[in-house]
Amino acid sequence: MARLATCIPLSGGSPEDYLSVAKSIGADLTIAGPEAPLVAGVADLFHQHSLHLFGPSRAAARLEGSKIFAKRVMSAARIPTARYVEADTVDQALEALPRFEYPIVIKADGLAAGKGVILAGDLHEARAAIELLTTQFGPRLILEEFLEGEEASFIVLCDGRHALPLAPAQDHKRVFDGDQGPNTGGMGSYSDDRILDPNQIQEVMDLIIHPLLDYLASSGTPFLGFLYAGLMLTSAGPKVLEFNVRLGDPEAQSLLHRLRGGLLEAVTAAVRGSMQGYSLDWDSRPSVCVVLAAEGYPSAVRSGDTIEGIAAAEATGATVFHAGTRLVDARLVTAGGRVLGVTHTGGDLAAAIQNTYRAVSCIHFPGMHFRKDIGKKGLRRW
Ligand code: AMP
Ligand code: GLY
Repeated sequence: MARLATCIPLSGGSPEDYLSVAKSIGADLTIAGPEAPLVAGVADLFHQHSLHLFGPSRAAARLEGSKIFAKRVMSAARIPTARYVEADTVDQALEALPRFEYPIVIKADGLAAGKGVILAGDLHEARAAIELLTTQFGPRLILEEFLEGEEASFIVLCDGRHALPLAPAQDHKRVFDGDQGPNTGGMGSYSDDRILDPNQIQEVMDLIIHPLLDYLASSGTPFLGFLYAGLMLTSAGPKVLEFNVRLGDPEAQSLLHRLRGGLLEAVTAAVRGSMQGYSLDWDSRPSVCVVLAAEGYPSAVRSGDTIEGIAAAEATGATVFHAGTRLVDARLVTAGGRVLGVTHTGGDLAAAIQNTYRAVSCIHFPGMHFRKDIGKKGLRRW
């Protein structure tokens, strides 16, 4: 970002801190990236001060901020999702276990940076998961039926009533190849129009997006912003795994790499009340993003390792998105779990994968690890 724009450090992370920066530069439009400030009410504060912010109100952001809230909305709006039980205490969660078969899915209610979901294969693992999640994230949980199928990330741009779909994408949540190991925030993504065909997109709009937007608008909490539906494409049709109130990470990297134009126009129209008639212009070629993670991720990570080779990777035509990096005396070092998102396109998915991994091979830092199979799910499917 520093290469494209002037970065202004925040004095803190509260909605007021964002407001004072927006006012200090006379911002015409603010686009909220991450979920935490939205859940804390940054959109409400901007609107009180008559400033345009693209992102949902605190009330609508609960779709991501509370999995229990999201499930209740889905029940009320008859949106297809996994059968579930809410638990407010460890005892309630343990008592509910016999109502499910294994594997069972156990989720923390609140924000957990992608680490609040555990798939448990048997009673022993389920007890351990309940213990771990309640200790780390608090007592409220969801127990949920395990769904089988292919996952898809479907993101729409919303103006409160209408939705403009982005290209479909797919995330890779587990840390190791072949979807093994614990869940992470996301180890890589790809975007390819075949992930959801036009009929499937229509089905998702009719069964999920429109009922949700109508329900939220009629409840007095219309949704303005990016709405992300994490889907499982089951044999009984698409079902919602989760909602996010932002572009996904690392889906955003592969999507923005394919986006050719129209975003600013559509977002500006949305914050003014209606983006009907607007459209986005996409590169038809697929894209792939491979996340380079730090030593230890997704557990405790080591920081401060020197990163080399980014210029060489970019010379291949890749975009290297920085997520956990820092400059220390003109030396670029790691400063987070997911360090870089290396993103490239190709004439077809196989070529996009090859181009991306060629760029990845230029980059090195001690302890670096990444998945070698990003996008292979798509190759297998087609
Ligand atoms: P979530 O944050 O709710 O999307 O969950 C993280 C990941 O856990 C998802 O991307 C899926 O890979 C997996 N997952 C969540 N819920 C289910 C479910 N009901 N059945 C199967 N897998 C699930
Ligand atoms: N990639 C999933 C997320 O951003 O939550």
